[in-house]
Amino acid sequence: MKETCWENAEWETEPEVHCWELFHENAKTGRYDKALTNEQVLKQMENMYESFPYKLKKRIQLPDSLSPTDRTFEEIILSRKTVQEPEPVKISLRDLRTILHFAYGETRDNKEDEYIKRPFRTVPSGGALYPLELYFFSNGHVEDLEAGLYHYSPSKNSVCLLRTGDFSDQISSALVEFQSNLAYQLSLFIFITGVFQRSTFKYRDKGYRFTLFEAGHVAQNINLAATALNLGVINIGGYHDREMDQFLGFDGLRQSTIYINGIGSGNQ
Ligand SMILES: Cc1cc2nc3c(=O)[nH]c(=O)nc-3n(C[C@H](O)[C@H](O)[C@H](O)COP(=O)(O)O)c2cc1C
Repeated sequence: MKETCWENAEWETEPEVHCWELFHENAKTGRYDKALTNEQVLKQMENMYESFPYKLKKRIQLPDSLSPTDRTFEEIILSRKTVQEPEPVKISLRDLRTILHFAYGETRDNKEDEYIKRPFRTVPSGGALYPLELYFFSNGHVEDLEAGLYHYSPSKNSVCLLRTGDFSDQISSALVEFQSNLAYQLSLFIFITGVFQRSTFKYRDKGYRFTLFEAGHVAQNINLAATALNLGVINIGGYHDREMDQFLGFDGLRQSTIYINGIGSGNQ
């Protein structure tokens, strides 16, 4: 008789409902759901940072102007691709400013609106709540910036130095093994992180989905900005989440890394 017990045992350990199915079903919104009033939303927003202030950290002002590009919009979109075998290159402070500004910079104020108090950004955001924070690491490849981990402040057009040093080894070990070398091949790692509460307080579980959408908007802008500047860009989802969050100093729930973009030499 054929021995089949092991097959049954194996099937029994398979979950009948996967986590993503449960989540997706539960994050759906319906016609009769209760929503917060505009006043309630505004009150909650008053207790939330528009962007973390990092008041005690060294602040470096970014240039006022953006880098020009000689490429057309069509060329930029059609030539965007994931860079293969990049190498670190020098990045000017103006190019850094351009990439960060296109990623998540402010574009216009919002003083006319009674309820949406946040200035608008280069990307759309559910309820104009802007739940993301951007960080970056560069090992001395950005002009005038010492090696270290930085945070981007959109409203101040500046960056804060959070930690000085070469963290390539920590990033390397938090990347999945087959691409751990990327840590030494790129000039810049941009970490797109979510502060989920800033969206979920209003949209509940769907706010989590909105936060991920928004990270995609930001990442695409980074891809296009880097391509416009003839730099290479890579989108990185292959990292160990807990280790990357620990490196960045997040608890992984209130704030967590959603996506990483690497910038290096171009291969256009
Ligand atoms: C969510 C996401 C995660 C990705 N993660 C990685 C990654 O960890 N490493 C990598 O080399 N490429 C990664 N990529 C890039 C894809 O492999 C790449 O976009 C795809 O092969 C299509 O090629 P193209 O970007 O050149 O058009 C990722 C892309 C996306 C959208």
